[in-house]
Amino acid sequence: MTVAVTTYALETRGICRDYALNSGLFAAQRVLRAVKDVSFRLEKGKTLAIVGESGCGKSTLARILSLIDAPTSGELHIDGARIDIAAEGLTREMRRKVQIVFQNPYGSLNPRQRIGDALMEPLLLNTALSGSERRERAMNMLRKVGLGPEHFNRYPHMFSGGQRQRVAIARALMLSPGLLVLDEPVSALDLSVQAQVLNLLADLQDEFGLTYVFISHDLSVVRYIADEVMVMYYGEVVEAGTRDAVFGNPRHDYTKKLFAATPRADVDSIRERVERRRKARAAQPA
Ligand SMILES: Nc1ncnc2c1ncn2[C@@H]1O[C@H](COP(=O)(O)OP(=O)(O)O)[C@@H](O)[C@H]1O
Ligand SMILES: [Mg+2]
Repeated sequence: MTVAVTTYALETRGICRDYALNSGLFAAQRVLRAVKDVSFRLEKGKTLAIVGESGCGKSTLARILSLIDAPTSGELHIDGARIDIAAEGLTREMRRKVQIVFQNPYGSLNPRQRIGDALMEPLLLNTALSGSERRERAMNMLRKVGLGPEHFNRYPHMFSGGQRQRVAIARALMLSPGLLVLDEPVSALDLSVQAQVLNLLADLQDEFGLTYVFISHDLSVVRYIADEVMVMYYGEVVEAGTRDAVFGNPRHDYTKKLFAATPRADVDSIRERVERRRKARAAQPA
């Protein structure tokens, strides 16, 4: 008899991250454990939402999942393979597996670099593609995120916030990663623009079969985008499950409080719009 083994797009086992706190020249060094014993599994093509209030360790975990920072302890597996950047460094192959999008796209866009160059740069650094191939891929990606060739030679400051986030998403996708970590990607945008960027992310996920880790403090956004939900509180996972299980029956006191404090507006209209678009697309001949 053979046993089917599921390979997860992402799996963590007991991830911890400590920060050393310098409390003065002669004071004993103290340690803040910003992420404590976080374990989860995420299937390919799904979205895990990580929620929790400011300071609970979401961005610390995001940096570990996107291979920017190494955990103090614990294991990270991507597509079934253990990745240990502290021991092995970061290879090109690893770099291509996972990318991150930040709340503020200025964090990932150089103000002096034209958008086209920003999109082509990951290809220049990580592939052997020719200049014309790089250009063609960047142009294609601009179109995928709802921008056009006219944007290729512009600088980041010439875009609106929503457009800049589209550029950051495009750049993150240039190396065709399977996994995208999105750290509060729409939190700085107006509500109407949030809906557009969330729709774009849903479309891209379908088209490329992407797996998302979507970090947010906004439950209305999470309710719309998540398959699985993980609630963090002071560095620990206090609740985890499918979206419907967590939203339908929050168990932990903190989760109940979090939910009680969040308005439920807007989500249903966003979700309806996405459903309409999905149906329209499915109805189109291939
Ligand atoms: N580089 C760092 N050095 C020391 N402490 C940090 C550092 N980065 C984050 N922290 C602390 O770790 C905790 C978690 O921060 P963070 O991961 O940014 O939370 P969140 O993204 O949920 O707001 C906070 O108490 C924060 O002050
Ligand atoms: Mg954060």
